[in-house]
Amino acid sequence: MSPSVTDQLPDRSTRERLKTVAIEAARKAGVTLGEYARKGFRIEHKDAVNLVTDADRRAEETIVDAISRAFPDHQILAEERGLAGSQSPFKWVIDPLDGTTNFAHGFPAYCVSIGLEYQGRCILGVVFDPTRQELFVGEAGGGAFLNGTPIQVSRASKLDAALLVTGFAYDIRESSNTNLDHFANFALRVQGLRRTGAAALDLCYVACGRFDGFWELKLHPWDMAAGSVIVQEAGGRMSDFSGRPFSIYSQEIVASNGLIHDEMLEVLQRA
Ligand code: IPD
Ligand code: CA
Ligand code: CA
Repeated sequence: MSPSVTDQLPDRSTRERLKTVAIEAARKAGVTLGEYARKGFRIEHKDAVNLVTDADRRAEETIVDAISRAFPDHQILAEERGLAGSQSPFKWVIDPLDGTTNFAHGFPAYCVSIGLEYQGRCILGVVFDPTRQELFVGEAGGGAFLNGTPIQVSRASKLDAALLVTGFAYDIRESSNTNLDHFANFALRVQGLRRTGAAALDLCYVACGRFDGFWELKLHPWDMAAGSVIVQEAGGRMSDFSGRPFSIYSQEIVASNGLIHDEMLEVLQRA
């Protein structure tokens, strides 16, 4: 690792502790989700198609408790409870259950996603899929791993040979900006196109080469924080739809193996 990368990071022992706490919290939340999946849960509607369950809330409590016990001064942005704390260079960005609709239907494609910003930059990502017992970890300057084994993005070099994934925001019935136009354009250009319903996992699957690229509109910071570190550390490229630098606070995300990125941007700019 070059000195310039480590200069912008917390010291090594702090980084190890941050990672250990994040992994423990993600695994613990995964156990919570598994228990609710077996025993049942209550579903509430945030709006027509946007659900939340008591599993989301309980998993979030598990993660927030673990992190605030270990790091009481850190800021925490969590999907169901919003932002807490201020004035810390550390900000945890948490989706306790990414893929709630899948979870509510018993469709096994969901995960826990825990990202960490340091001085405004995402430096750690932990995503745990309790249904497959898959743990994805990415550390700025330290690589990306699936269950401890290094991962890399795919080598597909043409959209024609690519398997892409995307998703749709919960405002699809009300908004005129639905992503259906991009979906149709890509469908005619790629080998295959999927909508899994768990954006954080989609990003991890780009990182380990199961997908070649991903795009989506109107995601939230907690959907993208962890996965963005994992993709970049696996050698992938991230940007907005115009190729500008990616931010977890942006409304647009394109993540790819790098090789098909420009072709993806060209399709996105057509709509
Ligand atoms: C959703 C999932 C889905 C994406 C939605 C997200 P949630 O998160 O990541 O794949 O298409 O836009 O809101 O609500 O299941 O945490
Ligand atoms: Ca989510
Ligand atoms: Ca969620």
